[in-house]
Amino acid sequence: MMFSLKRAIQFASLLAIPAACAPSTHSSYVSSLPKNSQTLFTESMEWMDGFYDPAAGYLFDESSATALRHETRSSAWYAIGLLARNTGDDVKNALQIISNVIDKQYKDPKDQWYGDYQKEPEEPTVGTAAYPEKIYNSWDPNWRGFIGTCFIVGLEEFGHLITPEVTALMEKSLFNATKGDEYRVGGVDTDNLYPAYTNPSLMRAFVSGWTGRRLNDSNMTTSGENYATAVIDLFNRANTLSEFNSGTYTGVSLYALTLWAKYLPEDSIMKQNGAKMIQYTWEAVAELWHPQLKNVAGPWDRSYGFDMNRYLSLLALHLWNVIGKEKSSIITKVTAMSHVADWAYGPQFAILSKFHSTLIPAAVVKKLNTFQGEHTFKSSAFSPPFDIYPRNITAWLAPNISIGAEAFNETTIGGPAINPGTFNPAIIQWNTGDEIGYITWYATEHALTAVASPKNLNLTYPYGTASSIFSIIVATFKKSRDVSSWDDVQGLTVKVSGNVNMTYSVGFAGSNGGAYSPINDFEFWNFTYTMPKDFVGTPNLVFDVELK
Ligand SMILES: *[C@@H]1O[C@H](CO)[C@@H](O)[C@H](O)[C@H]1NC(C)=O
Ligand SMILES: *[C@@H]1O[C@H](CO)[C@@H](O)[C@H](O)[C@H]1NC(C)=O
Ligand SMILES: *[C@@H]1O[C@H](CO)[C@@H](O)[C@H](O)[C@H]1NC(C)=O
Ligand SMILES: *[C@@H]1O[C@H](CO)[C@@H](O)[C@H](O)[C@H]1NC(C)=O
Ligand SMILES: *[C@@H]1O[C@H](CO)[C@@H](O)[C@H](O)[C@H]1NC(C)=O
Ligand SMILES: *[C@@H]1O[C@H](CO)[C@@H](O)[C@H](O)[C@H]1NC(C)=O
Ligand SMILES: *[C@@H]1O[C@H](CO)[C@@H](O)[C@H](O)[C@H]1NC(C)=O
Ligand SMILES: *[C@@H]1O[C@H](CO)[C@@H](O)[C@H](O)[C@H]1NC(C)=O
Ligand SMILES: *[C@@H]1O[C@H](CO)[C@@H](O)[C@H](O)[C@H]1NC(C)=O
Repeated sequence: MMFSLKRAIQFASLLAIPAACAPSTHSSYVSSLPKNSQTLFTESMEWMDGFYDPAAGYLFDESSATALRHETRSSAWYAIGLLARNTGDDVKNALQIISNVIDKQYKDPKDQWYGDYQKEPEEPTVGTAAYPEKIYNSWDPNWRGFIGTCFIVGLEEFGHLITPEVTALMEKSLFNATKGDEYRVGGVDTDNLYPAYTNPSLMRAFVSGWTGRRLNDSNMTTSGENYATAVIDLFNRANTLSEFNSGTYTGVSLYALTLWAKYLPEDSIMKQNGAKMIQYTWEAVAELWHPQLKNVAGPWDRSYGFDMNRYLSLLALHLWNVIGKEKSSIITKVTAMSHVADWAYGPQFAILSKFHSTLIPAAVVKKLNTFQGEHTFKSSAFSPPFDIYPRNITAWLAPNISIGAEAFNETTIGGPAINPGTFNPAIIQWNTGDEIGYITWYATEHALTAVASPKNLNLTYPYGTASSIFSIIVATFKKSRDVSSWDDVQGLTVKVSGNVNMTYSVGFAGSNGGAYSPINDFEFWNFTYTMPKDFVGTPNLVFDVELK
């Protein structure tokens, strides 16, 4: 391992010489990218350059909250950006990072995390007494897909810059990652990879289909094709991804579908369906994206914040490519945004953008650019085994306001990810005059009949009881710092009706104090309704809203 690594670096240094002499700070590859993709590429790379630790051959963790520990996934993503940029020591550094990441890939086929990548090089060995295995904690099964797909982008686009030794390492790494990913079966050993868990499912099918073909392992190819078939069958029911409308994960899904469409041959079911799935997904995004609010309207199956202008979403990186940074929800000073670590995906999104943009219909681009005017949207999505039947999606968008909702009956509280902090099935957003306001339902029930219609959001608990509560998360406001009732909501008149006890509590969720804790860095007001004592019936709460 060490021998081939040194060889690889010597080889790479030779390759890097002509680029180092080049007058431009961009390789010709980067200047060949579309204009918006060039800024995405260059800004995200310059930011990551500031975290690169050459002594370690890894990036420091970009959250800047880890006492100079390093982070594996963003290092691998950065390496692909280095190959694309290819100036100075870029290629040498890329091969060093890739070799380091693979050196530490888990190698024992007996482990459930076999073929997965470490989260940080400093971590103790997963599965030891001191560092027990804990899925999504001490190891993250989705990282096989996040890093595996990135290796494939590297091999496909920049294979000519990668030494034969490192190429062989990457192939072995992809083989093990695919084998380990095959251990994943939703519902077994605490794993949750069902075909409806869209973003890792799309990556899993792709890595298996691609690696099987590359290594002439037809079983591996078939396994990828079969898994893809299950995902496609779910999609075809209503032309929607099961993991529907998520600022972050729609971004991953569009990325993975681009890999389906770009890198697999005609005989692959992924190649045959990828372009169509990208088109339908963008068509839904175009109806839900509100160019004035710079947010996708709800419902959001999984979200890392309540306003896309304040957290960095991967969908916004695609929008940066398509309509430019200024029209996307990425602010000028990107690094101030929450969830900024995902910016490390920037180079790969920029690299794929030229191809991806050929699959986005012109009518979609027009709607992403300019608000099309008041409209409603209806659809449905299905995530078995969590959904007992498909979720019904409704949304209404008008100037400066959107309401989005979905009706569902699930086996869990907080969506398939079982996370009320990210599940936002009923949300109102509007322009307060200063920023984006939000009113969103916090999951406390496994079933909700939520319907959005013009100026109205109607919430009913089909399985509710006298002890049900409605907890509503409400934004903080620049011009109304102290909130004690709906009258204090800035820029929106809110009328509440229904059969709840109309006396509600209001408490603050603050970073530095208050009764509750912020969610995904967002401070908020918690408006909570209870049911009348001895209530019998179906709990219902209705919002009628109007911009002030
Ligand atoms: C792949 O897994 C095998 C065990 O099946 C292990 O011997 C090998 O080192 C692994 N390769 C890499 C690149 O991690
Ligand atoms: C796979 O098969 C092709 C065509 O037969 C061959 O050129 C290639 O070297 C093989 N690759 C591997 C890894 O065996
Ligand atoms: C493919 O699967 C068949 C049937 O299970 C098995 O006999 C064969 O050894 C497998 N091939 C590889 C390369 O794993
Ligand atoms: C969605 O709508 C269909 C058709 O109206 C209905 O049968 C189904 O029960 C609804 N699903 C939910 C979760 O409310
Ligand atoms: C709603 O989901 C629960 C499981 O969470 C199930 O027992 C119930 O039958 C479902 N209701 C309908 C109408 O399907
Ligand atoms: C929307 O908000 C903008 C910015 O605050 C304002 O200029 C405009 O008048 C508003 N439009 C409507 C229809 O409320
Ligand atoms: C709200 O939805 C419930 C259940 O679908 C329905 O019975 C009720 O009439 C609706 N209320 C309003 C005000 O639309
Ligand atoms: C909101 O307040 C209610 C009532 O105190 C509490 O039960 C609930 O946990 C709070 N929810 C959040 C998300 O803070
Ligand atoms: C409504 O809530 C208030 C405050 O908690 C309580 O004093 C009152 O008794 C409740 N009314 C009913 C009908 O439950």
